Amino acid sequence: VAKRRLAPADIKALKGERPIVSLTAYTTPIAKLLDPHVDFMLVGDSLGMVVYGLDSTVGVTLEMMIAHGQAVMRGSERACVVVDLPFGSYQESKEQAFKSAARVLKETGCSAVKLEGGAEMAETVDFLTQRGIPVLGHVGLMPQLINTTGGYRSLGRSDKEAEKIRRDAKAIDDAGAFAIVIEGTVEPVAREITGTLSVPTIGIGASPACDGQVLVVDDALGIFTDFKPRFVKRFADLAPQISAAVEAYAEEVKARTFPGQEHTFQVKTKPA
Ligand code: KIV
Ligand code: NA
Repeated sequence: VAKRRLAPADIKALKGERPIVSLTAYTTPIAKLLDPHVDFMLVGDSLGMVVYGLDSTVGVTLEMMIAHGQAVMRGSERACVVVDLPFGSYQESKEQAFKSAARVLKETGCSAVKLEGGAEMAETVDFLTQRGIPVLGHVGLMPQLINTTGGYRSLGRSDKEAEKIRRDAKAIDDAGAFAIVIEGTVEPVAREITGTLSVPTIGIGASPACDGQVLVVDDALGIFTDFKPRFVKRFADLAPQISAAVEAYAEEVKARTFPGQEHTFQVKTKPA
């Protein structure tokens, strides 16, 4: 029997069964390491910040997402792979969204896209899902809106904010998304949404009440250390290990103790 990747429908079916496990991935070697352990990998546009050093996700292009989507597909065979649609590639019209999402599916072989937005994106989500493109929603804190919302603070403390997130999540559920990421949202709101939606909620900074969790892999591994939001847990602390390794390498090169004989190609001399 041919091994089959988890499909968006399989992710959806996990609601009520067990918590859904996800991390972001941007490269082939990291995808290989995550593949046995996660239900889906998200090729997040967070790569703009953690891989390219941009100070927001706004500058990320569709070409960047496709290149990294291809890399993650090459490094995985079991997990479902979802690729973020970047800012400017889907907000103009549902037709623009379809064109961008179709390019992502055709050029990477991944099975779904994610887009940020609530009620204002519901028509687009319906348009894509009716035409063969599974969509992962994303509500609550939406990093692509940084220039109008002005910050990365958590949301849902006021009645007005809570009501907007609830309405956004319901609209994207009704529009046919297979699951919905809730980012940076207070626990009672995330819990209530999780209890009322027909599809799983995937939390990031949105409490243990969600149906699943996602983290940026460089945060979880302690590689990205510019800042650490409250919701991040470092399951490893790789940055100091990388620094120590690079320091040791530099010392050995300067001392001429690397490369050693075992790393060196020699010519066997034939007896005369
Ligand atoms: O881009 C990203 O990594 C994301 C997750 C944080 C949900 O959208
Ligand atoms: Na994202």
